Amino acid sequence: MPLICCVSPKGGVGKSTVVANVAANLARLRSHRVVAVDLDPQNMLRLHMGVPLSENRGFIHLLGQPQYWYQIRHETPEGATILPYGGMDMAQSVEMSARVRQNPDLLAEPLRQIAADPRTLVIVDTEPGPSAMLHAILPRVDLLVTVLTADAASAALFSDIESGRTYGAAHSAPQCFIINQFDPMTRLGPVIARSLGAQMGRRLLGIVHRDEHMGEALAAQKPVAAYAPRSQATHDLGAISHRLVAMVGG
Ligand SMILES: Nc1ncnc2c1ncn2[C@@H]1O[C@H](COP(=O)(O)OP(=O)(O)O)[C@@H](O)[C@H]1O
Ligand SMILES: [Mg+2]
Repeated sequence: MPLICCVSPKGGVGKSTVVANVAANLARLRSHRVVAVDLDPQNMLRLHMGVPLSENRGFIHLLGQPQYWYQIRHETPEGATILPYGGMDMAQSVEMSARVRQNPDLLAEPLRQIAADPRTLVIVDTEPGPSAMLHAILPRVDLLVTVLTADAASAALFSDIESGRTYGAAHSAPQCFIINQFDPMTRLGPVIARSLGAQMGRRLLGIVHRDEHMGEALAAQKPVAAYAPRSQATHDLGAISHRLVAMVGG
């Protein structure tokens, strides 16, 4: 039922990490059937979700043929489904973006149909900043989750994100936020996290600490909850997953 979209104005903040780990947690909770969709031409979500590096197929090769998307789905050991973007060179993915810009329903309609099942939760990973893919699905999004880090750039960008200017007029979905890679031992991190947290209020879904287990879990191609069940990151992402279920209803 809900279509959740994970976005950020900057790269490297942890969108794909959050999408993959929340998808794994929600699949384990059995609250929904979880489908994670990668709209980023970097095609990295598959690595976060245990799909072999050699697997290059994705929905982008089947744009306009959603009846065949089942062929490129993968199931994770936790029971989540991933729809990878697919491997493509830059010229091809620019061409695909142009097709989606011209006809947003090439993407928006199949995702709407997947999310139409009342027991299915769709969680979408995006490339940083504005994109044709994000623009195409924004009118259909039920919850926009922005991932930020507790640094000066995120603090500076926050008012534009909050006002909706970052994502443009197509966007009217409720917003919430995750602060990722938080390090309480730095001088600036706690100051900025406190200030961002005060502005976000109840829309702050949670804070994920910087935790080396996260990078190791990615290298092992496992969710951090499977790789390091007692880690801080597992605890933080678990709390966020529960709050997300409470928000969207499960
Ligand atoms: N909380 C965290 N602690 C430590 N490393 C993290 C954390 N979150 C993400 N990372 C690491 O940061 C890098 C970028 O994360 P990624 O999810 O790919 O970002 P994005 O999708 O926003 O570009 C990855 O190597 C990931 O393992
Ligand atoms: Mg990413």
